[in-house]
Formats: sequence, structure tokens, C-alpha cells
Amino acid sequence: MHDDSVTEFDSDETLSALPQTGEREVETTLRPRKLSEFVGQPRVREQLELVLESARRRGVPPDHVLLSGPPGLGKTSLAMIIAAELNAAIRITSGPALERAGDLAAMLSNLAEGDVLFIDEIHRIARPAEEMLYLAMEDFRVDVVVGKGPGATSIPLEIAPFTLVGATTRSGSLTGPLRDRFGFTGQMEFYADEELDQVVRRAAAILGIEIDPAGSFEIARRSRGTPRIANRLLRRVRDYAEVRADGHITLDVTRAALKVYDVDELGLDRLDRAVLGALVHSFAGGPVGVSTLAVAVGEEPTTVEEVCEPYLVRAGMLARTPRGRVATAAAWEHLGLRPPAEHGRTDQSTLFD
Ligand SMILES: Nc1ncnc2c1ncn2[C@@H]1O[C@H](COP(=O)(O)OP(=O)(O)O)[C@@H](O)[C@H]1O
Ligand SMILES: [Mg+2]
Repeated sequence: MHDDSVTEFDSDETLSALPQTGEREVETTLRPRKLSEFVGQPRVREQLELVLESARRRGVPPDHVLLSGPPGLGKTSLAMIIAAELNAAIRITSGPALERAGDLAAMLSNLAEGDVLFIDEIHRIARPAEEMLYLAMEDFRVDVVVGKGPGATSIPLEIAPFTLVGATTRSGSLTGPLRDRFGFTGQMEFYADEELDQVVRRAAAILGIEIDPAGSFEIARRSRGTPRIANRLLRRVRDYAEVRADGHITLDVTRAALKVYDVDELGLDRLDRAVLGALVHSFAGGPVGVSTLAVAVGEEPTTVEEVCEPYLVRAGMLARTPRGRVATAAAWEHLGLRPPAEHGRTDQSTLFD
């Protein structure tokens, strides 16, 4: 039996869509290098191919690109692929690292023509840096302020034409002016089971892991539509296969291993289950506001909103309504409970925004 106490979350990272410490190396190994190696996301891939090819033909850096979607879906990988496809160098930073406009000015003035500047978590960029970015994106220029007080002067500085690639888990909290300066937004979607199956097989081949088709599909199916989770579950099942079996991953080995790691039939993790559990047990299925829900499971509202909810919504277990979060009949059933009678009368159109 697993223990649902909230203090457990920190140690339960197997199923988290967020990267873990010490995982960087293997993520680098498994990262697709070319657009053609990038599994899934057909819509974003096709749109991006056009943007890149057209820029190549015209001999100019492509428009700025915004990649948006939940963690672990391939935003960083895609940013690196964009640079690789353009034969360009990539400079990497993140919103939280750009606290002062000077930090950004330094990065921008070091760019060479055609470079890709990748800003991860761009929605967390500080205001002064963001304002500097407007001009840089639009006119390839920054105004550097020298001095303080009344004697301060602003010196315009030209920067090399570059392509900004921004990634965000929250495109909704980007300011309008920033969003408008991107020529293209790629909205990343959760992956289909068949696509994740390809991700798992590809990773198994790279890591030299023997896996049956049924085993790889089972891992794919329980990875919550997220390649990062699929790759991690593969490594955990490999551990089990090596220690408790002959190293070969079959369907039975996969099921037994995922049981040990407390991965449920749908791949929901403790936090997902705690959120659904709180909704159902403490709030009678909702509606309840996200902050109240977050307090009930001992998490930050942003974690519940950005990491946990997107998949629960897509799995049809949770609905975001104007009055708050609501557990759907499927959620009650997943928890082994009977949905309250009113669910029979509530049709989907009233549940979803
Ligand atoms: N489309 C994909 N095909 C194959 N592997 C992928 C794909 N997207 C992501 N991955 C794998 O998942 C891991 C996490 O992807 P990443 O690009 O870091 O996600 P994000 O930046 O959106 O959190 C990568 O190391 C890579 O191995
Ligand atoms: Mg990333």
C-alpha cells in the first residue's frame, strides 16, 4: 500500500515531469538532434519546418519562436534542434537568471549574427530585462543606460540579428507585448501512446536495453503523455529487469516493476492522486479554487496548475470551470468510488470552460 501523506512528494520523483538532479547527462544522451529524429508533435514540427526552410532560402535568421507546453514535452530539445538545423550556435539562459537588464544586455551584445538565444521559463523574466528584450527582438538594438540619476544617458547599441527561442510552461502569464514579438508559437501537446512507444524504443536502442514491444507499449501507456517520464520509467524498469529478471524487459517484468515504483494503471503519481483524492474527499468533487486545492495537498498552486492539472484535464479526470476545479465521473471511478448522482445530469459542456 502506498502512503498518501503529503510529505512523501519530495521522495516521489519517478513520475515527475520535471527534470531531476543527476539526470542531465542521460537526458543529453537521449535528446533528439534533428527535426527528423524528433518524435510526435506533427503540427509544431511541420510549422517549424516551414519557418526554418523559408528563412534558410531567404538567407536571414528566422522569426523569433515561442515554445509553450507542460514540462517534459521536448521544448528544450526543440530549441537545440532549431539551432542545429540552422547550423547556428545556441546560447542558453533562463528567465529567472535574467534578473537585471544588464545580465541580458551582456548576453545580447555577445551574440554573433544568426545565433540562437534560448530563454527557458521566459515568463519568469524580470520586468526591466523584458523591456530591453522588446527592442532587441524588434530592432536588434538595446539601449544601455550609463550612469545614475539626472546625469544618466542611454546609449543605443546595435546587436547582431539573432533568433530568440523562448520556452514557457505558462504562455498565459506572458505579457501581451512580449507574446506579440514572437513570429511563431509552437504549442506542444501531450504525446499519444504510440508516439511515446517510439520514444521508449529509441531510448532503449540508445541505452542498449532489450525490450519487447508489449513492454515498451506498457511503459508508454503509463507515462502521462510525457517523453521525460517515459525515458525515466524505462530506466527504472531496466533496473528491475537487471536485478530481478534476466535483464530483458517483457510485459510481465514491466508490470511488476511499475508496481514496485507505485505507478498506477494510468501513470498518475502521488500528487495527481492526492489532488483527485482531496477534490473528491475534502471538497465533495468541487468546484474548489486552485489555491485551496493546493493547500489541501501541501503544494504550491503553480505546481498544481502547471505540472499536475494539464494531464488530469487531458485524461478527462479534472475540469477547470469558472467556479473552480471539478472532479469528473472518471476521477471518482479511478479512485474506486461511485460518482455522486448529479454527475449523471451534468453534461460535459457545463464542466468545461
Ligand atoms: N519528441 C521527442 N522525441 C524523443 N525524445 C524526446 C522528445 N521530446 C522530449 N524527449 C525526451 O524527453 C527529455 C525531456 O525533454 P526536454 O526537451 O528537456 O523537455 P522540456 O524542455 O519541455 O521540459 C529529453 O531529454 C528527451 O530525451
Ligand atoms: Mg526544458
